[in-house]
Amino acid sequence: MAKSRANFVCQNCGAVTNRWQGKCESCGEWNSIVEEGPTAGIGAQAARGARKGRVFPLEGLAGESKSAPRIVSGIGELDRVTGGGFVPGSVILIGGEPGIGKSTLLIQACATLADRGHRVVYISGEEAVAQVRLRAERLGLAQSSVELAAETSVEDITATLQEGKRPALVIIDSIQTMWTETVESTPGTVTQVRGAAQSLIRYAKNSGATVILVGHVTKDGQIAGPRVVEHMVDAVVSFEGDGGHHFRILRAVKNRFGPTDEIGVFEMTGAGLREVTNPSALFLAGRDSSAPGAAVFAGMEGTRPVLVEIQALVAPTALGTPRRAVVGWEQSRLSMVIAVLEAHAGLRLGQHDVYLNVAGGLRINEPAADLAAAAALVSSLTGAILPRDCVYFGELALSGSIRPVAQSGARLKEAAKLGFSSAVAPAAIKESGEQSPITLQTAGHISALVADIAAAGAQARRGSGDRPKPAVVTNR
Ligand code: TYD
Ligand code: MG
Repeated sequence: MAKSRANFVCQNCGAVTNRWQGKCESCGEWNSIVEEGPTAGIGAQAARGARKGRVFPLEGLAGESKSAPRIVSGIGELDRVTGGGFVPGSVILIGGEPGIGKSTLLIQACATLADRGHRVVYISGEEAVAQVRLRAERLGLAQSSVELAAETSVEDITATLQEGKRPALVIIDSIQTMWTETVESTPGTVTQVRGAAQSLIRYAKNSGATVILVGHVTKDGQIAGPRVVEHMVDAVVSFEGDGGHHFRILRAVKNRFGPTDEIGVFEMTGAGLREVTNPSALFLAGRDSSAPGAAVFAGMEGTRPVLVEIQALVAPTALGTPRRAVVGWEQSRLSMVIAVLEAHAGLRLGQHDVYLNVAGGLRINEPAADLAAAAALVSSLTGAILPRDCVYFGELALSGSIRPVAQSGARLKEAAKLGFSSAVAPAAIKESGEQSPITLQTAGHISALVADIAAAGAQARRGSGDRPKPAVVTNR
């Protein structure tokens, strides 16, 4: 029989080594390796003289499937992210930094579900029952029939849940505080988190209750410890936002029962989280359109259009290597846009620091933002103020041509709804024959857009009698 021996497991990434190390070779984290008892692996099973397997029937894809009705939480933004409500028997992991509002969101969801007559259980491993009650009171939810407990033993929890009527929703806040007797490690270790999650997932599948696991994330956005749980659950949802802003974004990272590109937008108020049904209005609030360097991007988050301001600051550098800083967008994307502007539109940014910021704390993943970012950069460099009622969208190719993007119609409609009267968009839109509710200025190549902005800037300076700035834009 194989000698059973202890494993050393990294608490950050779950990598297993056979000796202790100060630094995990897999993820580079220091002091994250902890000794854990031998686990019953596949090898151990085989060594014990495994029984002969049982034969089970295989089935076809076209068989009958009972699609259980989803349980709608009643919080529209949450239902949008889950793909139309909670699926019975599924497990959702919700991650977010401490203090972002996970417990607040979940107690609110519990209360709305309980008010609709469902049995809802909220297990807190972090706070005492009195603390959870206090929060509910503050949110005006104290009268809801949510069942509370402060517990951390998974065996006790599943035994309690099996009593009485099957709950529709069970919240485990948080998975890092849970521990199970089936695993011999200390609570909080990766092995414990994995074991506890496994038991709770088994409970969800067997009972048909939806289980939501709360997981804390580290500063760089990874779900610490519970990373190892991500592949076991049906959906992973992250709750984001930054301290300086009141709004919070719920984003599906993985979803076996729905789309992963939808976002839910909330605002943290004194009375809990409030749904934001029109995020564009929120992201554009307080916009200063009288300064150069700001362009409104008509973006899409899943099926929903979202308008957001992209701000750029281009200033002469005092450093040997100019700074390139970006918030809310990808650094590599910014480098690419700068390279295209230099190569194909004659801009010289080698002596300039470049800062780019997506206003309001939103994080954009779409390449369609290239054109708005380019417009903001050119505007800041030339001092030309972009028209305040114009939106921008389009993907930039390395050749400088502007490529078409999906869902132009929805973007234009949202812009019209918010009072914008024109849009700079890829030239290919015209060919699609789509009717636009606002004036379309199509651009086929980045050089045309840069020339337009620079000309407008020159004209404005002449009008105001300013001394013209040195020519930074050369027409090629
Ligand atoms: P919480 O839900 O406890 O965060 P998490 O569970 O993600 O750690 O939220 C805590 C923060 O939310 C706290 O800093 C205070 C703030 N908050 C409000 O602004 N308004 C409210 O009504 C509530 C309940 C919390
Ligand atoms: Mg909490």
